Amino acid sequence: MSEESSGNTKKVEVVLSPALFPAYFESTDCTVVVIDVFRATSAICAAFESGIKGLIPVANLEEAIKYKSEGYKVGAERNAEVVDGFDFGNSPLGFKDGKFKGETIVLTTTNGTKAVDVAKSAANVVIGSFANLTAVCEYIEKADKDVLLFCAGWKDRFNLEDTLFAGAVAQKITQNLRFQNISDSTIAAINMYDAAKTDMYGFLGSSSHRKRLSRLNMEEDVIYCLSLDQTDIVPVLEGDIIVSNKS
Ligand code: MLT
Repeated sequence: MSEESSGNTKKVEVVLSPALFPAYFESTDCTVVVIDVFRATSAICAAFESGIKGLIPVANLEEAIKYKSEGYKVGAERNAEVVDGFDFGNSPLGFKDGKFKGETIVLTTTNGTKAVDVAKSAANVVIGSFANLTAVCEYIEKADKDVLLFCAGWKDRFNLEDTLFAGAVAQKITQNLRFQNISDSTIAAINMYDAAKTDMYGFLGSSSHRKRLSRLNMEEDVIYCLSLDQTDIVPVLEGDIIVSNKS
């Protein structure tokens, strides 16, 4: 982080796209919340809520193919669609029946799992979505470190839905006097969340990925992804595997 945290006051910065991550990440001693509301981090929360043991996030299809050849169940999504030859995609609803209960599965997605890879040298890397909003905020407060709310965006570009979630987290944790050191991107995200929070679905009506998912008939996924507190699990990266903070 560019400046020292003043006293015990922790920084809360919103990283609006992966392209900006190097500009904000100056110390590994922080909590990074990886955010891909539509849909990777929402799907990962749903997968843990359905009882998976672990999830190996991989950045590219080559690695995913390798895991598949080793016998893992592997999900792969590109441009919001399931990649041919893989076991599942990136729909949070796909985990509802608990079919991977107790298993460690593998997932690669267009932006979300790449963002996890980008963030992996931080002390704490956790998965955040509206599905675990309250649990993530509690985790951050307990960890008591500077925070990067890291929006996966879309192919290095800014998106609305990830910024909204970053604003929701920032608004909640800055009620705690220890998390008061905020940057301009954090102020922007909080203001945006304030403007949208009573009707996020409507606010995102013309957003690019919401439209992409609607074209693909994935409206139910959108509704899940905007539903608050579906789980109290915070998926955390341990080495190369994401596990539940409750395991
Ligand atoms: C991603 O990682 O880019 C997304 O989760 C895309 C999607 O499947 O909606």
